[in-house]
Amino acid sequence: MSDNASSTVIRRADYTPPAFLIDSVALEFDLAPARTIVRNTMRVRRNPDAAPAPHLELLGEALEVLGARLDGAPHGAVRAHEHGLTVENVPEAFELTLESACAPDQNTTLSGLYVSSGNFFTQCEAEGFRRITYFLDRPDVMASYTVTLRADKAAYPVLLSNGNLVDSGDLPDGRHFAQWEDPFRKPSYLFALVAGKLVAIEEQITTGSGKEKLLQVWVEPADLDKTRHAMDSLIHSIRWDEQRFGLKLDLDRFMIVAVGDFNMGAMENKGLNIFNTKYVLANPETATDTDFANIESVVGHEYFHNWTGNRVTCRDWFQLSLKEGLTVFRDQEFSADMAAGDDVASTARAVKRIEDVRVLRQLQFAEDAGPMAHPVRPESYVEINNFYTMTVYEKGSEVVRMYQTLFGRDGFRKGMDLYFKRHDGQAVTCDDFRHAMADANGRDLAQFERWYSQAGTPRVSVRTAYDAAARRYTVTLAQGYGDASPAARETQQGPLLIPFAIGLIGRDGRDLPLRLDGEAAASGTTRVLDITDTEQTFTFVDVPEQPLPSLLRNFSSPVIVEYDYSDDDLAFLLAHDSDPFNRWEAGQRLATRALLTLAARAAANEPLTLGENFIAAFRRVLTDANLSPAFRELALTLPSETYLADQMAEADPAAVHRARQFVRRQLATALRADWLAAYEQHQTPGAYEPTPEASGRRALKNLALAYLAELDDPADAVRVASAQYDASNNMTDRAAALGALLSAAAAGANEPAEHALDDFYRRFEKEALVIDKWFAMQAAQRGTPAQPTLAKVRKLLAHPAFNLKNPNRARSLIFSFCAANPAQFHAADGSGYAFWAEQVLALDAINPQVAARLARSLELWRRFTPALRDRMRDALEQVAAGAKSRDVREIVEKALA
Ligand code: PHE
Ligand code: ZN
Repeated sequence: MSDNASSTVIRRADYTPPAFLIDSVALEFDLAPARTIVRNTMRVRRNPDAAPAPHLELLGEALEVLGARLDGAPHGAVRAHEHGLTVENVPEAFELTLESACAPDQNTTLSGLYVSSGNFFTQCEAEGFRRITYFLDRPDVMASYTVTLRADKAAYPVLLSNGNLVDSGDLPDGRHFAQWEDPFRKPSYLFALVAGKLVAIEEQITTGSGKEKLLQVWVEPADLDKTRHAMDSLIHSIRWDEQRFGLKLDLDRFMIVAVGDFNMGAMENKGLNIFNTKYVLANPETATDTDFANIESVVGHEYFHNWTGNRVTCRDWFQLSLKEGLTVFRDQEFSADMAAGDDVASTARAVKRIEDVRVLRQLQFAEDAGPMAHPVRPESYVEINNFYTMTVYEKGSEVVRMYQTLFGRDGFRKGMDLYFKRHDGQAVTCDDFRHAMADANGRDLAQFERWYSQAGTPRVSVRTAYDAAARRYTVTLAQGYGDASPAARETQQGPLLIPFAIGLIGRDGRDLPLRLDGEAAASGTTRVLDITDTEQTFTFVDVPEQPLPSLLRNFSSPVIVEYDYSDDDLAFLLAHDSDPFNRWEAGQRLATRALLTLAARAAANEPLTLGENFIAAFRRVLTDANLSPAFRELALTLPSETYLADQMAEADPAAVHRARQFVRRQLATALRADWLAAYEQHQTPGAYEPTPEASGRRALKNLALAYLAELDDPADAVRVASAQYDASNNMTDRAAALGALLSAAAAGANEPAEHALDDFYRRFEKEALVIDKWFAMQAAQRGTPAQPTLAKVRKLLAHPAFNLKNPNRARSLIFSFCAANPAQFHAADGSGYAFWAEQVLALDAINPQVAARLARSLELWRRFTPALRDRMRDALEQVAAGAKSRDVREIVEKALA
């Protein structure tokens, strides 16, 4: 491996067009695990729109050059170096053939060409193609590809690449070949090949325009019984993109391939999407409701990239959110439409929105408050793989959603149509997208650019005043960033355009009709106010009584709202707001407030108590049959320990844990009979179905079980959970039962938990994704002073099924402990941090991308209590001293800076 310890900063401002263009590429692969030979023939010409360059500089990594020919003749003037290959003495336009070798079975980075359970796979985004062959490996160089694969026929019967199969046949010595042609020009990051022993389920479908299409989902033979849901999701995605955006599948053949070793979720390679098995394989016995929902959304996401990413791609990697923010928005809308159909007001739609916002607030807001804070369109990076972030994806999606909030679905569609009309086949920027939205809707969106250039989470503080005599209600909205992190602060220049949805609720709990000062008549009960200044006042007239404001309905922009609600106000909103998102939000605010107060008391070793009103509000939600079970489950789930710790002036995970456990136990005890009733009432007899309705019932039932498992006497929970474990016909219920038994173990009931863990392992020994769950549940287990979770985790590291080289397995054990078990990870003695440092360094030598993700679990160290802070700094310094990869170094150096 080359020494990449030097941290060169790449800047957006330094973008220049490529000096050369590549029009076409013919790739020939002689596939063998130890040494694969690649012959690459490119048509190259100088770029008329770029400054002339003396030489052709191709990028390459971990390659061995075997030969070079220019226009058919051997070319001596090539020089291999650390970053690639310099080709000297090149004419205006020419054909260049390079031959090189790589070693797929040594490639543990999972970037480039690698081997996973004996089969070949590639991963090229962002900069993996240069590990396959020398190339202008940047997204603004788009070429046509012809790919010829040759391999041993018995070992690699299936040979796949992008586009259409144009030829195949046998070769001497038991070998065979396949030739693929991609009819669309593409950047190198969308190249893919797959070779090995795989099988597929297939469907033929006819698209809107009457064309026949072949759809395939390729997996290892033992997994064929877990492909139906992915195939259905693909068909639904194709239909949805036709209907909602008029976008059709442009290839005759569309393939999904599942691979067990994969750094990320999935990859949108043209016509040949490659997926982490986690987002393909599902049947009722092995996959939970969450898995089923995730598969639908990731299949959609990758399919939607075919237009938003592939047909129109990114000019450079600073524009990553152009494709990712937009495609996340599209997959969120897809999932919402699948759950709710055309019903815009349905709670199934709100449930999806709440789930998405919860992720954004827990993970993206935290990112935006730390040393890795960056704008949706970053200004610089050291390692691009570190910028596949919550900000680029999830905040990027919120930014796209705001266009739809401003212009409506139809206006948004007009903007999309114009974007494709202008840019199909091009590599473009976030500005190009914004301009298409602005021009299609006749609106100046210059100020809106700040959403792309400013980091940090905006705060909107709200003041209200009611003038009973004049029947006027004024709402004053002020925006700012509070005390943002230094990384965020340096990007902030001025006020944003914030679409702020608001409603006013009367004393009877009903929405008041809204009329703004200057309007002829009232219209509607929710208004989107456009905030553009640092402070602005909006006046509602004809307001008959002092209302209660419902602020930022449906989370209309990614901001923090500050308003002095009383506890009674929040309980009222929780009971009455017509906006289901804000009903949930009111409950979360109420709970956050109570929990933070309790955490402060816990930190001071003061006794803890919980008010009757709080319990009563929860009881009302739990027993309100008008609310969907899915919604009730969300409303009754307390804010996570991580989210709560982030809200403290100095994060104290132990205090938060004690406070949250105290509240869970109080709710379990006080509502014991209601939980038991909810448990009984929300059974889902009959065959398993992953519908929103059925999964909502399971979610509420299993939440009830989880609360019951908090009771001081866990006997009831153990009985119910054991019965559920044995009787369940699906993984959702089985895993929830096991989870409840693990909770009960913390209260002393060890034996049933151990018994179930053993059973679970034996039952699913051959199902890698289920064994991942088995590791993850133990790593996330609560632990007791006598049985700290870390001791268990260390024991599991030595389990024969553990394998650090497999990212899913590493995540299931190590990340689950470091990122999903804050109370145990942040143990006062620093043992969690020592474990973290050890594992980051071990992964650094195997897979820098995965190592860098793990490295991020300490980046917020400055926000913790002084004692923890010191121990975290020691661990970070240890990693900074030992890490070799650019990936990990960027993270820890930014954290320590
Ligand atoms: N482009 C992929 C997606 O979001 C993510 C990805 C990035 C996968 C880099 C692999 C490597 O759909
Ligand atoms: Zn994506």
